[in-house]
Amino acid sequence: MKKKKLFAGIVGAVMLCSALPAINMAVPADYSSVYAAESSEPQTTVVYSADFEDGTNDFTGRDGIGTFNVVSTDAHGGTNCLECSDRTKGWHGPQLLLDNMLEPGVEYIAGAWVKAAWYNDVKMSMEYTDSEGTRHFSNLKSAVSQGDWVEISEVKFSVPKNVTNAYIYFECSDSANIYVDDFQITTAPVYEIQQDIPSLKDVYSPYFKIGGAVTTSELAPKSAQDLIKKHYNSLTPGNELKPESILDKTACQELAAQGDETNPQVDIASAREILDFCRDNNISVRGHVLVWHSQTPDWFFKENFADDGDWVTKEVMLKRMENYIKNVFETLEAEYPTVDFYAWDVVNEAWLDDGKPRQPGEQGSSGSNNSAWVKIFGDNSFIEPAFEYARKYAPEGCKLYYNDFNEYMPAKTTAIVNMANDLKEKGLIDGIGMQSHLDVGFPTASDYEKALKAFSETGLDVQITELDITTSDTSEAGFETQAKLYSDIMDACVKYADSVSAVVFWGTTDDKSWRASRCPLLFNEDFTAKPAYYAIIDGLDIPATEPTTEAPTDVPTEPEIDFIPGDVKEDGVVNVFDAVALRETLILNISQSDGLTEGLLAASASDTNGNGTIEVADLVLLHEYLVGKDVELTYYKGE
Ligand code: XIL
Repeated sequence: MKKKKLFAGIVGAVMLCSALPAINMAVPADYSSVYAAESSEPQTTVVYSADFEDGTNDFTGRDGIGTFNVVSTDAHGGTNCLECSDRTKGWHGPQLLLDNMLEPGVEYIAGAWVKAAWYNDVKMSMEYTDSEGTRHFSNLKSAVSQGDWVEISEVKFSVPKNVTNAYIYFECSDSANIYVDDFQITTAPVYEIQQDIPSLKDVYSPYFKIGGAVTTSELAPKSAQDLIKKHYNSLTPGNELKPESILDKTACQELAAQGDETNPQVDIASAREILDFCRDNNISVRGHVLVWHSQTPDWFFKENFADDGDWVTKEVMLKRMENYIKNVFETLEAEYPTVDFYAWDVVNEAWLDDGKPRQPGEQGSSGSNNSAWVKIFGDNSFIEPAFEYARKYAPEGCKLYYNDFNEYMPAKTTAIVNMANDLKEKGLIDGIGMQSHLDVGFPTASDYEKALKAFSETGLDVQITELDITTSDTSEAGFETQAKLYSDIMDACVKYADSVSAVVFWGTTDDKSWRASRCPLLFNEDFTAKPAYYAIIDGLDIPATEPTTEAPTDVPTEPEIDFIPGDVKEDGVVNVFDAVALRETLILNISQSDGLTEGLLAASASDTNGNGTIEVADLVLLHEYLVGKDVELTYYKGE
């Protein structure tokens, strides 16, 4: 009778846990030794350098403007430097052609010393022309010169595939002379990612998708691709599907000149590398974003799509909105029929923290509260038609979200809930996206959870769409604090797993984050996992459960055991560390037996399939169990 009760307790614990695993996300003290990354410094090679010492110069003027001389007055290193004079605009400056010099899609690091008169922000920038003929410009990094030499260093960049006229160039705030010296481009180090740590998407597969945002340049290193393939089963293009990235101004204006003011043309060239990657690796895509006040050019709202045009009427804008949404979905369907666009942010950031709509107006440098949508519609009444059109043109199965930040500010939570309930009644919305750009100091996990609860109570799906947690304290203790909040937030998501269908981290490694200076992500620059990663991976921890006192009468008699099947480390829980320990045992066994995987005779927690030997099959079964597959762990019961 006693034996029966104990067995029932163990089986009950295993069954209960696979249905509703409890969570225990402490950071184990011995993580770093378990998962210590191999440390061999990756090599880099210089692919181009210019110190101007031999008097030659490969730089030319932007649009042919400027006079370029190698001069010997006050160089940074050696005797000579490059002087660019006769500039009349900030963007006039020295440019270096990269075509045929660098391999597209590969990451490089550039650095230079620069100087400009008085107080000047000198920028290192990049330009290229995409396959549709559109020129793209981006500022890579800048440094302030007050007439002295300043360094612009460690500038990571890549030239996208299928582009031409790619340049690195220098510009500054005014028309002062720009000086450049000791310019260099090297290959970026290629890091091996940690392959033997648990995959986030597997660990969380019983609950929700695990995703990441990525930009084209961030995707360039093979290590980033490996990291994404290992951990994420959802990818959000970080900028590449935003209106400013895909609206084709020239094509819009051409159509307007022919009399059609209402059919915004799109060109998804800038998203291709990411979408190709998703297609080739079978990764689902979160589309981001259709209707937003930010990263949407003002000319989109102006007559003739002209920068200096008057604002269009609400009627015209409604038609533009419908056609824009239609064109985006149709273009993606035509070019990427096999990619699973499983979710799209239809409207982003329409409510302020006080629960009111944004101010009407152009984006403007200081007016981040301004919305051109509110300017045209007078209020937030543009939201409903946006969802109507998205519903009309989105592919079948694609869920539609309202997405926002500071979503835990009480007045904002209420505004979003009210709007969402209204749209839900009309059958227009599927879910709420919580961006979740957090900081270790704010909000608390319990305030965050309140918002999560309120959103889940709408009955709509919830996705955590842009999770990152900044910390100004980047010491070991600071990263532990960050890990704790990450752990608490993931706990909350697991608690509401019935409502939450995806958790997306806003990036890959800290150095590539849009908030890089405060290290907000799970992985370091060298792709090793941070404490925050380790704090969230034991999402399937299973606490030991007390044996039940009443045994069902039909349970057969079983031998008495004093361990939990799969609890290799005998700490009362079955989790990823047991898999790690079992793997180590097996590796040791293989090496001791000249490569033969001889089974260790066993009657213990490691023999998860209960056949009397400890072998790779036990590890496979344990892994399947940990990732939520419908399997049961057992133990050796004798012949
Ligand atoms: C950010 C990108 O990550 C940056 O690269 C870009 O410079 C600005 O936008 N909320 C959103 C995202 O919905 O689109 C924003 O992404 C971050 C805040």
